[in-house]
Amino acid sequence: MKIAIAIDGPAAAGKSTIAKKVALMRGFTYIDTGAMYRAFTWYCLQKGVDCQDEKACCALIPEVNIELKPGYVVLCNGVDVSKPIRGTDVSGNVSYIASYKDIRLALVELQRKMAEKDSVIMDGRDIGTYVLPNAEVKIFQVASVEKRAERRYLENQEKGIACTYEDIVADVEKRDYIDSHRAFAPLKPAPDAIHLDTSNLSIDEVVAEVNKIIDQKLVEKK
Ligand code: DC
Repeated sequence: MKIAIAIDGPAAAGKSTIAKKVALMRGFTYIDTGAMYRAFTWYCLQKGVDCQDEKACCALIPEVNIELKPGYVVLCNGVDVSKPIRGTDVSGNVSYIASYKDIRLALVELQRKMAEKDSVIMDGRDIGTYVLPNAEVKIFQVASVEKRAERRYLENQEKGIACTYEDIVADVEKRDYIDSHRAFAPLKPAPDAIHLDTSNLSIDEVVAEVNKIIDQKLVEKK
């Protein structure tokens, strides 16, 4: 049975960690939509375009080709950008890029195409509300700002990405604000989303909870 799982929520809530694990366990295709906005941002920065200049950024749409490959590899015009898109430059600018309607429309079209063939687990901000409104399972994953910043800080340390804890708190708060206040497809829970607060849960506990929710939906669907 082909199904779609949408996981939305604020920055650094651990959505991708959970989505990757559940996808591996169940044989679903994992689609990291944030990586696509990040790759577009990387391209604007490469080109020396000001990410707050909507017109100039949108003018680049026809020349940007973003692909998600197995092994969580992100290609932008054939260049492997998997690592640079996690850096502070991209993180600090991606919310501007993600607020531009024309860029969103172009990337959403790609995301919907990716979800056509296989069972998918897609994480982002607007998956349950806009990209896949008919997804069988919608989860809105949240955690306190402190917990999210702490987790992202440790993750960056492991990956060798230079940053301070204070930088991460500021980045997470800024992105949450811009992502939830933009006019088009803002960050918000779908009315039928299940809220999951992971502040005091381990990764394994969240994975178990998500699997339980999926199992329930599959039973209902039969
Ligand atoms: O999930 P992430 O932190 O990699 O996402 C990067 C940015 O992209 C985030 O600040 C909001 C934006 N985004 C979005 O607007 N819609 C999505 N579906 C996914 C991400």
